[in-house]
Amino acid sequence: MAETIVKVRNVFKSFGEHKILNGVDLDIEEGRITAVIGKSGTGKSVLLKNIIGIMKPDKGEIFFRDKDIVKMNKEELLEIRKNIGYLFQDAALFDFMSVEDNIKFPLVEQLGMKEGKELSGRVAELLELVGLPGTEKKFPSELSGGMRKRVGLARAIAVKPKIVLFDEPTTGLDPILAESIDELIDMVNKELNMTCVVISHDIASVFRHADKIALLYDGVIQFCGKPDEAYASEHEVLRHFISNSFRKFGAETR
Ligand SMILES: Nc1ncnc2c1ncn2[C@@H]1O[C@H](COP(=O)(O)OP(=O)(O)O)[C@@H](O)[C@H]1O
Ligand SMILES: [Mg+2]
Repeated sequence: MAETIVKVRNVFKSFGEHKILNGVDLDIEEGRITAVIGKSGTGKSVLLKNIIGIMKPDKGEIFFRDKDIVKMNKEELLEIRKNIGYLFQDAALFDFMSVEDNIKFPLVEQLGMKEGKELSGRVAELLELVGLPGTEKKFPSELSGGMRKRVGLARAIAVKPKIVLFDEPTTGLDPILAESIDELIDMVNKELNMTCVVISHDIASVFRHADKIALLYDGVIQFCGKPDEAYASEHEVLRHFISNSFRKFGAETR
């Protein structure tokens, strides 16, 4: 059995009258790829933001190993965040900074690395890893959507976090590019041994590589299991979600 690296327990989050998370429970197993699926607007990104502590739940606990991050102050959170990489939905690169400076940012801010050969070497190594060698001097505006995701990914794994959270990494990409990003996530998981959490409404992608699938619906995790269990499940919402998504891709459903 894999260890649980993150435990979400009974998490609630509302915005005014708008209840988004309504008692979410979720276990993230170490070394695995966990996918959180659900319709647009169900609170997937909100859940992720709570896990990295840039948003606080109204109620509930979120453990990283045995520490509840909900109770942490700013300093403690900054410390714990060295363990957690995050790829925002739109890659969220700093547009006024070169690719190199974007990737240097967490290395300098979080690890306190200084300008020099070691830092440039680490940036070059990361760019190599994501398939963009030699792009240090480019600016985000000169890159395609897929390339920006790759730079965002390089930045997310720069400090060698234990766990990386990907918010819709393949959304807006064509199927070939989407597959190449999935392969990168597999590389991060299997070769760099990082636990991955992928938020997605791209069911085809999720079935391709997730070890575990969690369905967020109506503010709670309605189903959580392996892909074959998800595929065989009679859970009505899950069935509906799967068959709709496969229909969209023109693929067969059972
Ligand atoms: N900071 C915020 N303030 C107010 N409402 C928000 C905020 N963040 C998200 N929401 C609302 O919460 C709901 C869920 O958002 P989100 O987590 O982004 O959905 P998903 O990622 O599943 O598409 C949406 O209705 C969104 O408008
Ligand atoms: Mg989202």
